[in-house]
Amino acid sequence: MLNRPRRLRKNPIIRELVAETRLSKDMFIYPYFVIPGKKHIHPIAAMPGINHFSVDELVKDVEHGLKHGLNKILLFGAGEEKTSDASSSFSKNSIVVKAVTELKKQFGDELYVITDVCVCAYTTHGHCGILQNDYVQNDASVEVLAKMALSHARAGADMVAPSDMMDGRVGAIRNLLDKNGLENTSIMSYAIKFASAYYGPFREAADSSPKKGDRKSYQMDFRNGNEALKEAILDENEGADILMVKPALAYLDILRDLKENTLLPVACYNVSGEYSMVKIAAQKGLIDEQRIVMENMHAFARAGASIIITYHAKDILNKSWL
Ligand code: PBG
Ligand code: ZN
Repeated sequence: MLNRPRRLRKNPIIRELVAETRLSKDMFIYPYFVIPGKKHIHPIAAMPGINHFSVDELVKDVEHGLKHGLNKILLFGAGEEKTSDASSSFSKNSIVVKAVTELKKQFGDELYVITDVCVCAYTTHGHCGILQNDYVQNDASVEVLAKMALSHARAGADMVAPSDMMDGRVGAIRNLLDKNGLENTSIMSYAIKFASAYYGPFREAADSSPKKGDRKSYQMDFRNGNEALKEAILDENEGADILMVKPALAYLDILRDLKENTLLPVACYNVSGEYSMVKIAAQKGLIDEQRIVMENMHAFARAGASIIITYHAKDILNKSWL
């Protein structure tokens, strides 16, 4: 027998030598949910291990993470006033603005702060845009989203990440930021975001479920791969710096296709439902959490992601799973 692939699997040293995919702590972004008030650390029932933090407690938690090399975070605001025009989303006193301001004051460039830009947690109806006649209005929504991004960037966010899936929002955000002298604020686009049941636990965390209908008129149909690339190319042309695929596990083919069709860095979002499935199965003793998590992370990297947004990031770094 000439070919014996097992020769290169003989022991850990040779396996390490020939490993094709390697993870680094620098790839991980950790999402946080920030709420108004003080001294709050409220567990989110649907996402074991994940909490709502008030800004004061957020700062302490981030400081702990930083010690383990967790220096990139993605911020979501929750618990703000909900209106039909989403005005609390772009207020200069929004909870996200307060959090960014405080984090930047405490940690400066030691911490890279990314903010999610979407209005579903700020609208009475729970849709990711402005609703009229039961339809999410594209261009009116884009205007609000751009204002929201501007408020975050002004507070010092290093990067804004629009997650709404309106047409033309990346270009509009880029334009407004540039006009306001914020040409160095980056944009990570949720370029390929599918209408997915995997967001279930997140919607409890952000209290952002649509009260009526679903998100299928803006988020993508999961049957479509060509359309996914079209979305990504549009965002690239509008000035996105990083392209993201979301969710991750059920969309590894899309990740690979995107990687092969862009020169931009490719990110994936290992979303709430993917997280909670692993976490709850592990709590029940059905699976080995560390091994499952690391198998998933390698799958993302192998498929083409060089950036991984995941609620597991704290465990991976703090517990030295790498
Ligand atoms: C808001 C937003 C969602 C997620 C990120 N930004 C939910 C949604 O679109 O309904 C999902 C994140 C997760 O499930 O972890 N548009
Ligand atoms: Zn939304």
